[in-house]
Amino acid sequence: MAELAYESWGSGRETVVLVHGFPLTAAMWRAQLPALGTGAWRAVAPDLRGFGRTPGAIASVDEAADDLLALIDALGADRVVLGGFSMGGYIALAFMRRHAARVRGLMLVDTKAEADGAEAKKGRYALADRVRSEGKGIVIEAMLPRLVADATLSGRPDVVQAVLDVEGGATQEGIIGALKAMAERPDSSGDLSAIVCPALVIVGHDDVITPVADAERMAGTIPDVKLVVIPDAGHLSPMEHPAAVNAAMTEWLARL
Ligand code: MLT
Repeated sequence: MAELAYESWGSGRETVVLVHGFPLTAAMWRAQLPALGTGAWRAVAPDLRGFGRTPGAIASVDEAADDLLALIDALGADRVVLGGFSMGGYIALAFMRRHAARVRGLMLVDTKAEADGAEAKKGRYALADRVRSEGKGIVIEAMLPRLVADATLSGRPDVVQAVLDVEGGATQEGIIGALKAMAERPDSSGDLSAIVCPALVIVGHDDVITPVADAERMAGTIPDVKLVVIPDAGHLSPMEHPAAVNAAMTEWLARL
């Protein structure tokens, strides 16, 4: 079990854990931490292995889920609200398979339940090989236009720079490990109907990595669920439109 570095805000009795995506770090949640970590809540965002301040690399989504459990135990939290963005959502769904009793609410942000198809899997391994020989820069460049909406890319240089800064915290080993872990992750679609806690599904309207249809499929299957579509946002809705994402999260948390 790895000891995950984390950022934390607030000192409430209830804990919300926010899990970052690929190739990002806890810093992607900087606008959410103060919005959520207030009153009864403490908001915690870990760096997964190989990202930000946590060394190593992810071997599997199950292992990453167990790292989260170790963090939740170390925080002294019993049942938490677990939020995952994209790869963080794949890991949150693995956590639900393994440790569902520790979750009192689930937030699935710009993510999906399905596993990779054969082509996507091949692409991940090919990219991992290129990262090994050419360095992590190729992933950072390739991902940027897919992470944010076109309007963000062309008209909001401050957001683009912030995304690049966050991507800069990913290590070469971390990227390679995460690509393989994502390629090998199991399909979680069959698990959704068994989720007994309330869930919030958030998706950017213009998300091209995990589009609205993916979110709608999840929301159509989870029993107690709210779906929120964020206008004018791409995949990285929490960084592109934090006010709208924070509003969706805080309103849903208040009703838990
Ligand atoms: C992410 O944002 O975490 C990744 O793009 C997800 C993926 O590549 O499937």
